[in-house]
Amino acid sequence: MTDVPCVQLNDGNEIPQLGFGVFQIPPDGTVEAVRIALEVGYRHIDTAEMYRNEREVGEAIRASGLDRAEIYVTSKLNNSFHRPDDARQAFGRTLSDLGFDYVELFLIHWPLPTLYDGDYVSTWRTLEEFNEDGRSRSIGVSNFQVEHLERLAAETDTVPAVNQIELHPYFQNREVRAYGESHGIATEAWSPIAQGAVLDDPAIAEIAEKLDRTPAQVVLRWQIQHGNIVFPKSTRPERVRENFELFDFELDSGDVERIDALDRGEAGRIGPHPDRFAYAG
Ligand SMILES: NC(=O)c1ccc[n+]([C@@H]2O[C@H](COP(=O)([O-])OP(=O)(O)OC[C@H]3O[C@@H](n4cnc5c(N)ncnc54)[C@H](OP(=O)(O)O)[C@@H]3O)[C@@H](O)[C@H]2O)c1
Repeated sequence: MTDVPCVQLNDGNEIPQLGFGVFQIPPDGTVEAVRIALEVGYRHIDTAEMYRNEREVGEAIRASGLDRAEIYVTSKLNNSFHRPDDARQAFGRTLSDLGFDYVELFLIHWPLPTLYDGDYVSTWRTLEEFNEDGRSRSIGVSNFQVEHLERLAAETDTVPAVNQIELHPYFQNREVRAYGESHGIATEAWSPIAQGAVLDDPAIAEIAEKLDRTPAQVVLRWQIQHGNIVFPKSTRPERVRENFELFDFELDSGDVERIDALDRGEAGRIGPHPDRFAYAG
């Protein structure tokens, strides 16, 4: 079976660089999707309270017969639970829904700087508690901009292990990524193939044809070569397999630079801007 490389985190733990994301997989399809992913060889699952499928992720992992310790599980705090007491209860529910007594990684899903009086710092201090009591082996953030990370650095003791951000060829999020790189924060790239939007790009199609790979494989390989952690989502078994086959080929520097040049800056963003996103329903 393919060996997926690991990325070393700033707290000494390691995370498999390739995982399986379950955003937009409905609860009644999640057990089967995760079953297939584990069968293909994925050992890292990225879920969130917001996805409403933590229970099914846990069920699929237990049904696989694999040791819990072999699988890396990430979940995220939902936007309505940023106040410390709410966060404590929400994290307890995440663990009980998953049916585990710990997760490998727990993230603040969005910074929500326009809600909660702009206070994501007390939320982060609450995640520090989960890390200290061992129930979250690593803690991190998602969708944090540079100024949010700078504020955590100034006001708290723990540097996030990861920042999970939108990042793909059309939106390379360079400033946030560079801050992470220079401060020991690993970058996780969400929507790593831009939910399919980059797959018809002529430059990517040309590289794929030259290497006899698919456009998705080329884009995911580009992510891997940049050191990003990725967890593409698919409910089609053939794509789940295709997205896992990234470690028996390489892009040369010319191909990497060609994809680097596709960056459209803000115009390439497909998700909400973290400074303005304020959904806490
Ligand atoms: N932290 C955050 O705020 C945040 C936000 C978004 C996502 N995420 C995480 O990142 C993960 C991945 O992002 P994503 O699900 O938004 O987008 P993605 O992985 O970039 O793309 C998924 C889409 O691409 C299609 N697809 C997958 N593999 C393909 C292939 N080989 N060829 C052609 N099409 C393919 C899928 O369709 P089919 O299912 O039909 O194959 C689906 O429509 C999520 O599942 C979640 O874990 C986090």
